[in-house]
Amino acid sequence: MTINATVKEAGFKPASRISSIGVSEILKIGARAQAMKREGKPVIILGAGEPDFDTPDTVKDAACAAIKRGETKYTALDGTPELKKAIREKFQRENGLAYEQDEITVATGAKQILFNAMMATIDAGDEVVIPTPYWTSYSDIVQICEGKPVLIPCDAASGFRLTADKLEAAITPRTRWVLLNSPSNPSGAAYSADDYRPLLDVLLRHPHVWLLVDDMYEHIVYDGFRFVTPAQLEPRLKDRTLTVNGVSKAYAMTGWRIGYAGGPRDLIKAMAVVQSQATSCPSSVSQAASVAALTGPQEFLKERTASFQRRRDLVVNGLNAIDGLDCRVPEGAFYTFSGCAGMLGKVTPSGKTIETDTDFCAYLLDDAHVAVVPGSAFGLSPFFRISYATSEAELKEALTRIADACARLS
Ligand SMILES: Cc1ncc(COP(=O)(O)O)c(C=O)c1O
Repeated sequence: MTINATVKEAGFKPASRISSIGVSEILKIGARAQAMKREGKPVIILGAGEPDFDTPDTVKDAACAAIKRGETKYTALDGTPELKKAIREKFQRENGLAYEQDEITVATGAKQILFNAMMATIDAGDEVVIPTPYWTSYSDIVQICEGKPVLIPCDAASGFRLTADKLEAAITPRTRWVLLNSPSNPSGAAYSADDYRPLLDVLLRHPHVWLLVDDMYEHIVYDGFRFVTPAQLEPRLKDRTLTVNGVSKAYAMTGWRIGYAGGPRDLIKAMAVVQSQATSCPSSVSQAASVAALTGPQEFLKERTASFQRRRDLVVNGLNAIDGLDCRVPEGAFYTFSGCAGMLGKVTPSGKTIETDTDFCAYLLDDAHVAVVPGSAFGLSPFFRISYATSEAELKEALTRIADACARLS
């Protein structure tokens, strides 16, 4: 055996639990778009999942004050008492939900909350029902935990929402969780009380199934949409519901990495065991900042949402004016999820046939220098997601370029 062969055999081998998980399509497109920008191409990136607003000054000031007070050490494992209190008050004030202090957990982003919850509860082969299109991390986290994502297609005709009959059909004795996200990344679709009711009735009939709701975009809803969360609507499900939220999107605090949840204390305790061996605790300074976010002035949320709504209208109208695209009006978040079935089968000026939404998005990037994400990355095709958390001027330019690129297809 040669030395090279020995080295090759001893080379890196990923654990099987991550071997089926690739680098996300979103990151790949982002990397390509950035590379094109570095080459001097005028690329507009409409892929980012974060608000373009700044973190409020009151929040930044609270963080500086915490540093000056010396709050720079490890904190309590799953959240400082001050932050847990602020979260309890938030749940009571905004959602009518009463949680005790030990029914609240804080982590390094809502993503870690999801990770802790799945790690703490899933055994190999346990099933997790995920309506598609879905935020890509859901299925990846379930797979890392050796669970089985059960993906349920929810098309535009059903408003990208799960229906009771589909949920009922997906539940088996192995079902551990159902994951619901409202408003949704990527579709922007939200569940009203009437949309939720039939799903909650199904869950009442299946007491072994737990419900994880991701309310991350709670504050970004339009046209007077009334946000509700399942534990509030159906108190009989509260003792098997994890209500997940965070400061990232509402308060433009994606980099501070604080997410939180309310849920039954045994689950919260088990999640703390996972966290204790992953990160020990969330950042002390970010927790102090999050107290200020949750207890400080909230008026700016309305102004920011109004600004997002103007941009949503601009994008939805712009897309629907293009032959072959079909964009549903989203109730919330800052994404459009537009159908592009009318583009399939068309031929680009360089002679390539567009066969999939991935092809369409590659064409938009190459030809129009606009980076958007194909629906395939979120488990539903043929669609593409635009994040409109960018300036109106940039959105207008992007829409003009997309329209021109589509007109060049034959
Ligand atoms: C639906 C949804 N949930 C959770 C998160 C994670 O947020 P955090 O920054 O708190 O980890 C995101 C971020 O993109 C998201 O889109």
